[in-house]
Amino acid sequence: MKKLLALFCGLTLLGCQAGKNQTNIELIQDMMDQINVKTQDWDPDSEDYSTVLTPPDGTVSRNRPPYKYDLDPKAAEKNLKNPLAEDYGVETLKLGKMKYEIYCMVCHGEQGAGNGTVAEKMTVKPPTLLSQKVRKHNDGRIYHIITNGQGVMGQYASQIHDEKSRWAIVNYVRTLQKQAN
Ligand code: HEC
Repeated sequence: MKKLLALFCGLTLLGCQAGKNQTNIELIQDMMDQINVKTQDWDPDSEDYSTVLTPPDGTVSRNRPPYKYDLDPKAAEKNLKNPLAEDYGVETLKLGKMKYEIYCMVCHGEQGAGNGTVAEKMTVKPPTLLSQKVRKHNDGRIYHIITNGQGVMGQYASQIHDEKSRWAIVNYVRTLQKQAN
């Protein structure tokens, strides 16, 4: 019995390690020879041997239509209509507050006064969102800043995917402005 156990342990160890610079000994072949390729691996069947495939021209990813007003704040301001303009209900504001506190508060502060925790470490300070300037921006303009960024502020489209959340943030910023009066 002891001998059998020793043999078993030996084989197991052998199976796992063939030495630092050698391929492992394969006891079960199929587990290692798979047809799938890993990201950024070499794919002999692909045209440029890359596994990173570019979507064909004109492809639009599902549920993510391209943003129409890319880098065009004036057009956004003119054409975007807030679908939640009349909706300052509990659910919308709860969503807006949650997203604001995840994505905006670190810079613009809990009440929107521009005094978030990382603000003091930044050379270009995040401005207050309670200013006359931001109050005068229409909803579309604020939506555009979230989607596209502005100046040194990066865009948040890739983090805040769904449009509803972005509009809910706009409504929450409006609520902070009203509260600050
Ligand atoms: C990393 C810090 C940072 C985060 C996070 C951030 N911002 Fe900003 N934001 C800035 C800075 C800095 C500016 C000024 C950019 C400029 O004009 O150069 C700015 C500008 C703005 C402006 C325009 C203000 C003005 O006076 O022109 C609005 C509106 C705004 N941010 C809203 C948001 C919202 C909403 C979020 C969350 C989705 C957010 N920001 C997240 C740093 C940040």
